Amino acid sequence: MASTTKYPVVDIHTHVYPPSYIDLLKSRSTIPYIITSDGSLRLVILPAEDTESTSRGRPVGPEYYDITQKIAFMDKHSVDISVISLANPWLDWLPTEAAAEAARSLNDEVERECEKYPGRLFAFATLPLSGGGAAIVEEIERLQSLKYTRGVILGTTGLGKGLDDEALLPIFKALQDAKLPVFLHPHYGLPGSVWGERANDYGHVLPLALGFPLETTIAVTRMILSGVFEKAPELQMILAHSGGTLPFLAGRIESCIEHDAHLKAEGKLGEGRKTVWEILRKNIYLDAVVYSEVGLKAAVQASGEDRVMFGTDHPFFPPLEEEGGKWASVETNYGAIKGALGSGSDEAKGALGGNAVRVLNLTI
Ligand code: URA
Ligand code: ZN
Repeated sequence: MASTTKYPVVDIHTHVYPPSYIDLLKSRSTIPYIITSDGSLRLVILPAEDTESTSRGRPVGPEYYDITQKIAFMDKHSVDISVISLANPWLDWLPTEAAAEAARSLNDEVERECEKYPGRLFAFATLPLSGGGAAIVEEIERLQSLKYTRGVILGTTGLGKGLDDEALLPIFKALQDAKLPVFLHPHYGLPGSVWGERANDYGHVLPLALGFPLETTIAVTRMILSGVFEKAPELQMILAHSGGTLPFLAGRIESCIEHDAHLKAEGKLGEGRKTVWEILRKNIYLDAVVYSEVGLKAAVQASGEDRVMFGTDHPFFPPLEEEGGKWASVETNYGAIKGALGSGSDEAKGALGGNAVRVLNLTI
């Protein structure tokens, strides 16, 4: 229903590589690293990009590290507030001894970027995952004192064994207790062998369109199966790309659980188990970075219209030809929200920003 309620437009899925991270990658020659080629920078973060061909990596310009470009992008696309997060592969790859200090320094640097535009920028922080449990929990505690930090971004590997690792439980509990939602984001995709011999003919389409969403779906399903959401019942997860394929597969996952003799024999199907549907409505938020009305309607039906949040994935997916206009990737996501929820409706306004303001407390 159309309404006169006014909410800001909030982009909760938008990345940065702060200047110090760019410097760090420039100093390296194995993944992840940055090379300078013909005076411009190229980022190599995926094994498929690390080839001898002249097209090694992908270009990274100032839109990745210059915060004024983020603000210009927001202004061009009518985004009032952005919750910025370090882009993949975060600090996953750092040696243990460097992780804690790197995370502190990076999270403080991102805070300072937010401080330059009070009320327009907030942040999801990065955890020192390779630094060990104590260092991670210490950083989670410290994050609570940061004025603009509203959660953490997390990949799917956790401490190296995935997100169903028992050793991660104290970390999930610390995040729950700190009321810091986890923005779960893919990076590693699926093993290259699944793309077949002709993978190189298809650019990045298969890993980005399918590998990323399936990685997220698998990671969160493993969390569900391991009982994370019963053991940390208030943990809040925001899933990238509308949960990958989770809204579409939730029924099948739930049915497979209910029909699994092994789970039954282990006593895991009894009272106290949260169903996939309950978890979707209690512990999970979905971004609206799904590029279609069909996908967005599935997200809304799975989690509820009050649990879906607009995002852009900037600075990824720019127009291939420099046109200077609005980005099709962003307009498609705007269009999907309007089409699925009704232009100007309370539900659309919630998805565009109201839900994010409420859930992430985006006021200063
Ligand atoms: N490609 C990436 O590597 N990361 C994103 O977030 C989007 C596209
Ligand atoms: Zn992203």
